[in-house]
Amino acid sequence: MVQESLTNVARHARARHVEVRVGLRRDGSRTEIEVEVGDDGCGLGDAPTPGRHGLTGMHERVAEVDGRLELQRAPAGGLCVRARLPQPAALTTP
Ligand SMILES: Nc1ncnc2c1ncn2[C@@H]1O[C@H](COP(=O)(O)OP(=O)(O)O)[C@@H](O)[C@H]1O
Ligand SMILES: [Mg+2]
Repeated sequence: MVQESLTNVARHARARHVEVRVGLRRDGSRTEIEVEVGDDGCGLGDAPTPGRHGLTGMHERVAEVDGRLELQRAPAGGLCVRARLPQPAALTTP
């Protein structure tokens, strides 16, 4: 997801800065892994380009592990792609 998002920033965003954030976040009793890639470029615009599979593929891969993918306007003005993934049981501290 990070690789695809950074490729998108380089290809499409005309950004000056890009920020990658990875963290853990509590949602009630469960802990989620949050991964965000935000840029200060031109943003998505109104009409998503049809026939492209990068964003679709990210949605599908995140859904496969019961996560969610959100696209938002980044605080810096460009696009922010955020994935929230349930923490795998193997990583849970006893
Ligand atoms: N960070 C971004 N900033 C601006 N536009 C973006 C960004 N990421 C994606 N886009 C837009 O969304 C479209 C779809 O992205 P994607 O599904 O990855 O396809 P592709 O990269 O092959 O064009 C891109 O063609 C581009 O118009
Ligand atoms: Mg792409």
